[in-house]
Amino acid sequence: MVKVASGVEKIKLSGIEEMNELAKKVEGLINMGQGKPVFKTPLPVINAAKKALDEGHTKYTLSRGIEELRVALANKMRDYNKIDATPEEILVTVGVSEGISISLMTYAERGDKVIIPTPSHPFFRIMAEFVGADVVEVPCKEGDFSLDIEAIEDIVDERTKAMLINVPNNPTGKIYDGRQLKSLQRMATNQDFLVISDEIYDYIVFEKKHESIAKYGKENIITLSGFSKAYSMTGWRIGYMHSTEDIIDNILPIHNSLVVSAPDFIQVAALKAVNDETSLNFVKATTEEYRKRRDFVVKRLNEIGLPSNLPEGAYYAFSDISSYRMDSLGFAKFLLKVAKVLCVPGISFGKDWDGYVRFSFADVPQSDLSEAMDRIEKVIKRM
Ligand SMILES: Cc1ncc(COP(=O)(O)O)c(C=O)c1O
Repeated sequence: MVKVASGVEKIKLSGIEEMNELAKKVEGLINMGQGKPVFKTPLPVINAAKKALDEGHTKYTLSRGIEELRVALANKMRDYNKIDATPEEILVTVGVSEGISISLMTYAERGDKVIIPTPSHPFFRIMAEFVGADVVEVPCKEGDFSLDIEAIEDIVDERTKAMLINVPNNPTGKIYDGRQLKSLQRMATNQDFLVISDEIYDYIVFEKKHESIAKYGKENIITLSGFSKAYSMTGWRIGYMHSTEDIIDNILPIHNSLVVSAPDFIQVAALKAVNDETSLNFVKATTEEYRKRRDFVVKRLNEIGLPSNLPEGAYYAFSDISSYRMDSLGFAKFLLKVAKVLCVPGISFGKDWDGYVRFSFADVPQSDLSEAMDRIEKVIKRM
């Protein structure tokens, strides 16, 4: 048997995908596992893709992405994210997933330290380990899930090459405080490491405004965002990256060798999504729908006996299960078996989060959400 490369030896499938595999044969399942929006992609975007195919947008594009899209994305980042962005500082990627990978492939290697405030998306750790870096997880503060800046300061040293953050956070929904982000930006420039800021949920925010770290200065910051979540485009595989021109120029050859470019006709459709009024209204309307679901789910989870904070963004509830004397994988498997409700064990988001599970309310209509909460309640009452 051919031996796998040393970089992948300790890598396992993400806990999210592992639970998807377990759930695939469960009949009558209510899927609160994956963060996949239930809504259809806005029609103008679908029509733009069809038209682009008809018009022959079926070729490679410039590796960094088509000019009009990069101009539109730089405008979006200036207006919405308050980042001083130019089109030369934008790279169109095959989803934020590719953005995370190519940033780490370009900048981190064996012997480097990569810091991950947790809980955080499993891809962060997987890709940092893949490039051979030593991952150091720094848990956010229990209670409000804010960054533990003092703990981060203690861990940063000359080996530190990058830190991966996610705002609003999956799974907690936390939008980190502007002052904390500003001090992180200062730390990154003073101590010369990169902050890779995954902002894929930037449009899905409720009472509080989104905060981009690069608004405090773009040096040493890579900002990633995309279309998967806000525009219900998870299957289109398109996203984008912003950083300073020198950083983008360093990453470009890796992107070029890995995928050449994001698909031509999908870039044309993405341009429609950024500029089109109907599509932007879709983002507002679906965010409002997520807010209603959030209010319902979080209220019910707290009533049931699964303490959960009100998320400030994204579409997950992160629930405390520590009083049930089960680890998070055991709890998730039990809920799947008995209630036929899929959730994700907290351990998938970092080693310190085994006392939690994540419920997604992205892919479930309101009627199923009530049913899911009733089923969970029944199970919890028997525990
Ligand atoms: C925090 C985070 N980053 C990235 C992704 C994947 O993004 P994309 O579909 O743009 O690759 C997800 C998907 O769940 C996510 O939650």
